[in-house]
Amino acid sequence: MSNYHIKHLEEYFQVYRKSIENPESFWEEIAEEHFIWRKKWNKVLAWDFSQPKVTWFEGAQLNITENCIDRHLATRGNKTAILFEPNNPNEPAEHISYKQLYDRVNKFANVLKDEGINKGDRVCIYLPMIPELAIAVLACARIGAIHSVVFAGFSSNALATRINDSDCKMVITSDGSFRGAKIIDLKSIVDEALESCDGVSTVLVVKRTQCEIQLKEARDKWLQPLLDMASPERIAEVMDAEDPLFILYTSGSTGMPKGMVHTAAGYMVYTAYSFKNAFQYREDDIYWCTADIGWITGHSYIVYGPLANGATTVMFEGVPSYPDFGRFWQIVQKHKVNQFYTAPTAIRALAKQGLDMVEKYDLSSIKVLGSVGEPINEEAWHWYNDNIGKKNAPIIDSWWQTETGGIMISPIPYVTPTKPTYATLPFPGIQPCLMDEDNNELIGNRVNGRLCIKFPWPSMARTIWGNHQRYKETYFSSFQDMYFTGDGALRDEVGYYRITGRVDDVIIVSGHNLGTAPIEDAVNEHPAVAESAIVGFPHDVKGNALYGYVILKDSGESRNQINLRKEINQIITEHIGPIAKLDKIQFTEGLPKTRSGKIMRRILRKIAHKKTTDLGDTSTLLNPEIVESIIKGSVDF
Ligand code: WTA
Repeated sequence: MSNYHIKHLEEYFQVYRKSIENPESFWEEIAEEHFIWRKKWNKVLAWDFSQPKVTWFEGAQLNITENCIDRHLATRGNKTAILFEPNNPNEPAEHISYKQLYDRVNKFANVLKDEGINKGDRVCIYLPMIPELAIAVLACARIGAIHSVVFAGFSSNALATRINDSDCKMVITSDGSFRGAKIIDLKSIVDEALESCDGVSTVLVVKRTQCEIQLKEARDKWLQPLLDMASPERIAEVMDAEDPLFILYTSGSTGMPKGMVHTAAGYMVYTAYSFKNAFQYREDDIYWCTADIGWITGHSYIVYGPLANGATTVMFEGVPSYPDFGRFWQIVQKHKVNQFYTAPTAIRALAKQGLDMVEKYDLSSIKVLGSVGEPINEEAWHWYNDNIGKKNAPIIDSWWQTETGGIMISPIPYVTPTKPTYATLPFPGIQPCLMDEDNNELIGNRVNGRLCIKFPWPSMARTIWGNHQRYKETYFSSFQDMYFTGDGALRDEVGYYRITGRVDDVIIVSGHNLGTAPIEDAVNEHPAVAESAIVGFPHDVKGNALYGYVILKDSGESRNQINLRKEINQIITEHIGPIAKLDKIQFTEGLPKTRSGKIMRRILRKIAHKKTTDLGDTSTLLNPEIVESIIKGSVDF
């Protein structure tokens, strides 16, 4: 029996049991039957969470692009691999077949080689959602270069930090990007970033918007002429199972973003397996994930997972609101999308627009709906279920993380009965548990605790680039011999999991993870600011929004507070990007601090949530009187 594709609930329980009782033979069978290898492994799994060190399929050799492209050529050469839907609805969609993808990835790979990129080199990709983004990712993988995709909404500062952290030799970007009615000048953001990145010797530029741009001599090159001269054949580099495939940055609660490192074999096996089951993908289905490839969802479930299954994956360049709020549904109708995967924040924004934007379109092709990135609230769940799925398409509320590489807890559509706001049951091979603060595992059902994973799975990140110690401290030090997710969760009476949200200082705004410390650092750069503290508060579209408490250096500051707020948000935009702007800024005389000088964020969170009657014990504060004054100030705006 193949365990690869689960079709009913009883089978899920059987497969799950097998995956826990005998993980090695479970994953070995899947790896053996569903992928092509240059050389098989000596050992399926070796692990030690105290180091932490995990290896999967040690000794094996492969190239992920042979699994995502080459092996489909014989049977699916003319099938559409990537279906590109441009920002402008009047521009025709582009269907890139597996054969064309093969040629284009090889040409790009040859250009990278000609430009001096070798196995193990880091390449930063800063592109909009155009086919070249997916192709650049695959071209890096083809030659064994490590890609680091940076979401093209990040500012030049954030880009420079990421380029330098992993010492990238090259940046791949475009002249600009279309986002709804706006054109964004990406190239000048790159130019600004590179003023502080000495290691980058080459910039390849894709022409997209035809904006006027400056090419810096010897460094910058238009991509197209190089592609035109390149050969469409390139033998894939042979990679070891544990060679890094890519680095992807995610925010931490403190300091620098963390460059999560994913490795070739385990990531491939798990993303392919989870894609097939989470979406019940069948040959000829049209699958669409609305994420950006700049995030893990795009890596795993636009590029690698779908292509490893020979699927047709839609890439959408634009935004849900352009030319109007019916755009998603117009695309579903146009391409007869069967599986649709998006984030709760998008669902809430679209639900606000009223039903006429939905009812104009035929959504009957939809078989599976997905949600990812943050908890989905009950109202959004029902709106999605009733109006998009017409109560006929199961919603998979899929919980996972940049660090986990693939979907960890999620219903399997048509297999697991769904329950609003519940991510339900773990995928085969995933062993979640809930812990209390004293390091005890909470056994049984109806419990609420911190979500940990007890046993390795193939697509877990192996380290943080250049900082293994931080990897250990962040994920493997809170609970002994466990991976700690940073999320809280509960298990209900039947064993279903519900994710309750972050328990650390990461705040999820519109599905984007934001650490408070880097935003506070940015705010503190303003010359008038002495200190700041940022917390999240509930927002009906974004899930959470940011609330900043700011102490000014000169408390008698007579400057216009409206202007100050604008300036502070401008600095945040420059340092991180517009996604990290503060929705509310309260100027205050002080912040509640413990005797050891730590800001008591719990109190600030309550005030931002307007829950001021239940502040808990404030007697341990150094300055309890400040709380009253902050509460008074919080009603001013
Ligand atoms: C949150 C995105 C509730 C969670 C794939 C996690 C979710 C963080 C869900 C990771 C979900 C993601 N329900 N919360 N279905 N999916 N999260 O790294 O807090 O961008 O830790 O990966 O998003 O975000 P990341």
